[in-house]
Amino acid sequence: MIQDIDIADLKRITELIQAKYGYDFRNYAMSSFKRRMLRILELKNLTVESLIRKLNDSPTFINEFLDELTVNVTEMFRDPSFWRVMRDEIIPGILLNHKTFNIWHAGCSSGEEVLSMAILLREMGIHNDVSLYATDLDTTILEKAKMATYPAKNMELNEKNYIRFEGKWTLKDYCKEENGKVTFDKGLLANVTFRKHDLVTGDIFNKFDLILCRNVMIYFNQNLQNEVLKKFHESLFKYGYLAIGSKESLIWCDVANRFLVVNNEEKVYKKIKD
Ligand SMILES: C[S@@+](CC[C@H](N)C(=O)[O-])C[C@H]1O[C@@H](n2cnc3c(N)ncnc32)[C@H](O)[C@@H]1O
Repeated sequence: MIQDIDIADLKRITELIQAKYGYDFRNYAMSSFKRRMLRILELKNLTVESLIRKLNDSPTFINEFLDELTVNVTEMFRDPSFWRVMRDEIIPGILLNHKTFNIWHAGCSSGEEVLSMAILLREMGIHNDVSLYATDLDTTILEKAKMATYPAKNMELNEKNYIRFEGKWTLKDYCKEENGKVTFDKGLLANVTFRKHDLVTGDIFNKFDLILCRNVMIYFNQNLQNEVLKKFHESLFKYGYLAIGSKESLIWCDVANRFLVVNNEEKVYKKIKD
């Protein structure tokens, strides 16, 4: 079993990935990045040298590697009070000025966050008026998100969250169960565009009224968070909203004074200056 990996080796690996595949992990938070690397070495039974060889010689390995490197843990209606604020305050606020609008789920993982939003919008009766963009750097997880099929055992937590969100029905009304798996109604994803997008190296690709980037920047160091928050600022229409994870903050970043804190508990901000 690998006991440790030193900074020089982490540097070699990140530099190789950057040069060969264009992904830039140099500004990911060091401690969690190191833990993930150690996990990959153990899981795949590799040494640092054999990992480097595999990354060099087997271009298809990169997708498998990225899927293990990124933390994809997610759930439907994660932090139910956040979703109540979305439904009762933020989306009604957007609707005051726009009948149709755009939402970006940056770092959507396997899609539970997007499905939660689609269900919320359907229950508000505005599902057809909203375009959703769901992006992630990890193409393996994006394929799972498109399928909207999950292990049935995950539903206990999802359903609990939905009850705390105070949804209109039950989550079972939105999916079918077969062979230990549930598949959600594909109509929920009708207005969703899934695409690969890297928050570190990717360009601004659209303007949005609401951006959700929850539990993603927690894996970035402060410099990178700062750069990504600038991209979100640019990607928002004036008076658009940004929602981040409960353990994340933007009060210290360069663009902080261009946002108003709308809900400090749920980490929702509004762009008030270009
Ligand atoms: C913990 S999940 C968060 C999922 C969901 N937003 C939530 O809060 O439940 C973090 C996701 O961010 C993605 N991610 C990590 N680095 C990224 C990057 N540079 N660009 C885009 N997505 C990234 C990972 O692949 C992963 O799917």
